[in-house]
Amino acid sequence: MHFDVLTIFPKLFEAFRTTGVLGKAVERGLIGLDAHDLRGWADNRWRQLDDEPYGGGAGMVIQASPALAALRELAGRGVPARSIALGPRGRVFDQELVEELAGEGRLVLLCGRYEGFDERLYEIMEPEEISLGDFVLGGGEVAAMAVIEAVARLVPGVVGDPGSVAEDSFRDGLLDHPCYTRPAEVEARAVPEVLLSGNHEAIRRWRLERAVEATVTRRPDLVKRNWEKYSDEVRRLIRRIAPGMDLERD
Ligand SMILES: C[S@@+](CC[C@H](N)C(=O)[O-])C[C@H]1O[C@@H](n2cnc3c(N)ncnc32)[C@H](O)[C@@H]1O
Repeated sequence: MHFDVLTIFPKLFEAFRTTGVLGKAVERGLIGLDAHDLRGWADNRWRQLDDEPYGGGAGMVIQASPALAALRELAGRGVPARSIALGPRGRVFDQELVEELAGEGRLVLLCGRYEGFDERLYEIMEPEEISLGDFVLGGGEVAAMAVIEAVARLVPGVVGDPGSVAEDSFRDGLLDHPCYTRPAEVEARAVPEVLLSGNHEAIRRWRLERAVEATVTRRPDLVKRNWEKYSDEVRRLIRRIAPGMDLERD
């Protein structure tokens, strides 16, 4: 999987691409990550990209032409790419989309700043728009990092133990179960007995029950959305833990 990021702050990606699990994946050639300076496509010697908005108002707008040239140049390089513009009006990023993107060979991620891009960029290139959620960031870089980190986790070999990815929240429509580590007691709170029992089946059932409990109480919307894909065991647990729950999809 290769990520090409277009940004006016490529430096932000220096530590990101060399640190932790992602850094190792880049080092081992499992992931490619290049951050390109959008100013490299500016058509003036001051490398200025932004200008005042037509119609007046606050803030500056990034001109369409440099971003169009950059997207076209990157699209023409290497493996076919899916172009994504990060922005608050896009499809809200979730694990379903992460799984979809992980099936691609290359992603080009376009990060806005200021008031965003001239609308003609979207009209001409029609990039897919992805939002991190209903809030406004100062730029698309943090959103691009979120996309990269979530997608990279699903690339085979990036996370050492594939089991840990398979059990992540949302993979099976459930939140994750709680986790504990040494010591066995913290400020008079003991680890649940069953986790010390060595009984694998009892531990599996306990974890599944806690995952269902967490999902039903914290994210009932997930239960409705994923009902069709739950196993009979999960459905029985949901009915037991939340007998009155409305399972009709909105
Ligand atoms: C200050 S924001 C522009 C906000 C824009 N004026 C609006 O209200 O929709 C600058 C850039 O940050 C990024 N951004 C802001 N919020 C985001 C979000 N929720 N998800 C993804 N990117 C976001 C986009 O790339 C955007 O072009």
